[in-house]
Amino acid sequence: MSKNTVLITGGAGYIGSHTAVQLITQGSKVIVLDNLCNSNAEVLNRIHSITGIRPEFVKGDILDRGCLDKMFAKYSIDSVIHFAGLKAVGESTQIPLAYYQNNVTGTLVLCEAMAAAGVKTLVFSSSATVYGEDAPVPYIETMPRGKTSNPYGTSKAMVEQLLTDLCKSDPEWSVALLRYFNPIGAHPSGLIGEDPKGIPNNLMPFISQVAVGKRKELSIFGNDYPTDDGTCERDYLHVMDLADGHLAALGCLSDGGVHIYNLGTGSGTSVLEMVNSFQDVTGVEVPYSFAPRREGDLPAFWADASKAEKELGWKASRTLDEMMADTWNWQSKNPNGYDD
Ligand code: NAD
Ligand code: WQD
Repeated sequence: MSKNTVLITGGAGYIGSHTAVQLITQGSKVIVLDNLCNSNAEVLNRIHSITGIRPEFVKGDILDRGCLDKMFAKYSIDSVIHFAGLKAVGESTQIPLAYYQNNVTGTLVLCEAMAAAGVKTLVFSSSATVYGEDAPVPYIETMPRGKTSNPYGTSKAMVEQLLTDLCKSDPEWSVALLRYFNPIGAHPSGLIGEDPKGIPNNLMPFISQVAVGKRKELSIFGNDYPTDDGTCERDYLHVMDLADGHLAALGCLSDGGVHIYNLGTGSGTSVLEMVNSFQDVTGVEVPYSFAPRREGDLPAFWADASKAEKELGWKASRTLDEMMADTWNWQSKNPNGYDD
């Protein structure tokens, strides 16, 4: 990738920090904008330790137009990777307005500031959740967006529409909508990783927090699904592969319009297989028990990931064993995340 300047909104977060490392390593200049509502400034020291370079950091909010304008005036930004937003599905049903405000209005304000600054290249963090409740597997980009079941998912679908309309209105915009499946794992150094605040909502950090002794046991939500072992299946991909997917997308965004890509491995793994794989790779036991199904969970989904391979030359290459080993390397070295 050529030397250029990339603004990463939400760059102190889980996926943003790994993407920052990969961009810096490839020679880009990185500006991180984050309000730290779900992250810790220590991550910047860690990025520095890994890459030898500290990204420029702006503590600010994507909803703050004045802050955005100042930032675009100060730095000569070529493109934006937009991770900033709220992401907890359950919480989004309790405080929907905060989700629409941050995720939808925040993106709108960001796009207005970008347009004013003449920066019209954007990579957006979308989600497999936009395929909705009734989509057949594997999910493929030619399917329409489906019926979302919570404000978080709806906010992602709304932003996809907003960005699609923006691109239709002005051919100078080039936008990638990257639909992530289930990112897990950590940088192999163990210096950065996923650091959820409070009780983890997601499977992988819950498993690793049980393993490190912070939680007593894992509850597996449902063992009566129509899958091989009765537990849900998901398409887990290594966060380093996901980060690389952003670089690949950025490298191909030159011809205008909206481009949609699934970023997943193309195969599903059950919750029980995840627990067994973690135990096999790390040698650490993860006590678990079966609990009732979690509302809103789908039995099984995974990506058709062939479009990203064909058009971006991107393919998830890290194995499930690497995902487990890297998760444990991070969690065991940082039992309390960045608060250690
Ligand atoms: P994260 O919470 O670790 O990172 C998001 C970052 O954005 C945090 O550092 C947070 O402080 C910051 N932020 C939130 N609102 C902000 C605002 N208004 N202004 C400035 N900064 C703000 O989450 P993540 O897992 O790294 O996810 C990144 C993006 O990818 C999110 O948009 C998320 O919805 C999307 N996504 C995540 C997953 C996943 O499983 N992790 C899956 C699909 C899509
Ligand atoms: C995976 C599986 C759970 C925790 C969510 C969002 C999605 C995307 C990624 C942002 C499910 C089971 C989990 C636990 C369990 N995020 N589980 N015990 O639900 O596929 O996707 O994160 O866009 O939009 O919905 O991921 O990690 O929460 O769950 O049994 O303590 O693990 O039931 O089957 P999910 P997850």
